[in-house]
Amino acid sequence: MKTKTDATLPRVEDIDPTFEPWEPPRPIPIFLLAILIALALAGVGMYLSDLAPWTDSGSPPRMAQGPAATLAKPETPLGPAPSDAPELVHTGRGSVWSCASCHGDHGEGAGITPRLAGLSEAYLVKQLEDFASGTRINESMHYVARELRPEDITELAAYYADMPVPPLASAASDADLERGQMLFEKGDWKLDVPACASCHGANGEGVGAAFPPLAAQQPEYMFSQLAAWKGGHRHNSPQQLMDDIAKRLSYEDLYAVSHYAASLPRQRDDARANPGNENTYD
Ligand code: HEC
Ligand code: HEC
Repeated sequence: MKTKTDATLPRVEDIDPTFEPWEPPRPIPIFLLAILIALALAGVGMYLSDLAPWTDSGSPPRMAQGPAATLAKPETPLGPAPSDAPELVHTGRGSVWSCASCHGDHGEGAGITPRLAGLSEAYLVKQLEDFASGTRINESMHYVARELRPEDITELAAYYADMPVPPLASAASDADLERGQMLFEKGDWKLDVPACASCHGANGEGVGAAFPPLAAQQPEYMFSQLAAWKGGHRHNSPQQLMDDIAKRLSYEDLYAVSHYAASLPRQRDDARANPGNENTYD
């Protein structure tokens, strides 16, 4: 109960009911917090859209809102997609984004995304397992591969190994192709670098399960892999073969030999003609 004397005392609450002596002013921290949350959300959004493949409307459903999904898929001169593809190739499943959304309808790849068509089945299986386990490091492929079941891996590897090798859309190259050819065919003994042809085949066609083809593989992808070995970021080659080779060459040489190898004509337009050489290096 208020007495008359209480009511006549000058009290600060009567002047400003919101005044509290030691309270820090509130609007500013809440405002800052809002900005921080907005920045964090934008960061997550950008990270996810980096991971997300560019895609047509059908796939992949989870990332369809990302800004990357609005990029148009370039027209492919390769014709309609084959209709016998396993479901994961065009549709995907949960975090297994459709392979074709990044690797193309014909497994042709682009830029730093490799061609898969016509690679050997055992090599494809090994790479998918390595991505899943983290032995081979790549954020997008780890995200995709860790949800693959063993039977998915077998099915996808068989599908891509059987696919005809699509022609590589050749862009004019500023690389030193002569130096590239020299490295490819003869190596550089002064640098202790063997000829690429000695393992990857005289025409870069690939040998058996362990040595992937380089002919008509995406040049930027090959350069990115060689640079990753040189920088110590790819560690999954048997006996560190590629690590040592890439470390001994300069970036200029790696660029030259990537572009030279890419310019070699695709060797198998029918991938079933996989050479019977079971040269496994593991
Ligand atoms: C978000 C884009 C994206 C999706 C979706 C994707 N890939 Fe990849 N894939 C890549 C990139 C980028 C690389 C290169 C990784 C690196 O630099 O090491 C790669 C590499 C690979 C390689 C290694 C090839 C080689 O020559 O060593 C295989 C095999 C592969 N992907 C299979 C698949 C399969 C199968 C699927 C579908 C289940 C798939 N990828 C879905 C982007 C993608
Ligand atoms: C002693 C054998 C050997 C020699 C010589 C060799 N490579 Fe390799 N290379 C390999 C093996 C084995 C792999 C597969 C690595 C793996 O399984 O992860 C490979 C993989 C690659 C890849 C990755 C292909 C892909 O699809 O991911 C590129 C690019 C490559 N080599 C380029 C070269 C170039 C360029 C040269 C010459 C300068 C060369 N290699 C010489 C054994 C060799």
